[in-house]
Amino acid sequence: MITFELKNVTKKFGSFQSLKNINLKVYSGERLALVGSSGAGKSTLISLLNGTLQPTKGEVWVLGRNLNNLSPKSLRQVQKQIGTVYQQFHLVDNLQVIHNVNAGHLGRWSFLKAAISLIYPLEVQTAYQALAQVGIPEKLYERTDKLSGGQQQRVAIARVLVQDPAAILADEPISSLDPERSRDVISLLCQLSAESGKTLVTSLHAIEYARSYFQRIIGLRKGEILFDLSAEEVSSRVIEELYKIES
Ligand SMILES: Nc1ncnc2c1ncn2[C@@H]1O[C@H](COP(=O)(O)OP(=O)(O)O)[C@@H](O)[C@H]1O
Ligand SMILES: [Mg+2]
Repeated sequence: MITFELKNVTKKFGSFQSLKNINLKVYSGERLALVGSSGAGKSTLISLLNGTLQPTKGEVWVLGRNLNNLSPKSLRQVQKQIGTVYQQFHLVDNLQVIHNVNAGHLGRWSFLKAAISLIYPLEVQTAYQALAQVGIPEKLYERTDKLSGGQQQRVAIARVLVQDPAAILADEPISSLDPERSRDVISLLCQLSAESGKTLVTSLHAIEYARSYFQRIIGLRKGEILFDLSAEEVSSRVIEELYKIES
C-alpha cells in the first residue's frame, strides 16, 4: 500500500519554484526523514502531503486518492487520516493539557460536543492513555504553558495519537528543543510509528538524527531530490553535497 505519492509535482510561489518536478512514493508503515538546509522545500513538501498547499503542477495522491480531484468533504475525510506535528507545537497555551489532547477528536466531534468538552472534559481516559504513551500522564490537568518545550511537543504528539491517523507528518518537530529532548522526541515518534504501523514522514534540519532513527532518508536541495537512500547508504560525500554553499 502506498500512503503518499507525488507525481511530477512542482510548487511555485509567484515565479519562485519551491519544489521542482518531484516524484516520490512513500509506502505504508515507512519511516522517512526529509533533510536539507533551510529553504530546501521541506515544509512545502509536508504541506502538500497534508493538503494544506496545492501543487502548481502535478498530482498529490494520499491513501489512494488524488487530492486535486476531491470535493471539500472528501478532502477533509482524507485529511483526518493525516496527523501533523509542527515545530512550534500549535497548542493553545492557556488551556489545560487535556483540551489540547482532545483537539485530536475535532475532525470527528460535533461543534456541540467540542464546546461541552471545554467545560466538562470528555474522553478523559483516551486523553490519559495518549499522554501515558508519550510519557507524561501526570500532566493531564496542567496548564499547557506551564510545561517545558519537550513536554509541549509530547502533548502535540498525544493529540495526534488521539486523532489516530494512518500517517504522521512532523515538520521539524525538534527545532525548538535542546539536544537531549530532541533525541527523546524523535525516538518517541519512531517508536510510535513502529508499534502502530503508521507511516511517518519527518523533516529535519540536521541529518544525525535522521541517520540514527529512520530507514529511509531523502535529501532535498533547492526544491529537488538530491538523494533518496537508506540510512546506511548516506555517505559523508552526499551530506557534503546536500549542505554545500554555493559562492
Ligand atoms: N508561502 C510562501 N510564499 C512565498 N515563498 C515561500 C512560501 N513558502 C515557502 N516559500 C519559499 O520556498 C522555499 C522553500 O521553503 P520551505 O519549504 O519552507 O523550506 P524548508 O522547510 O526546507 O526550510 C523558500 O525559499 C521559501 O522562502
Ligand atoms: Mg521548514
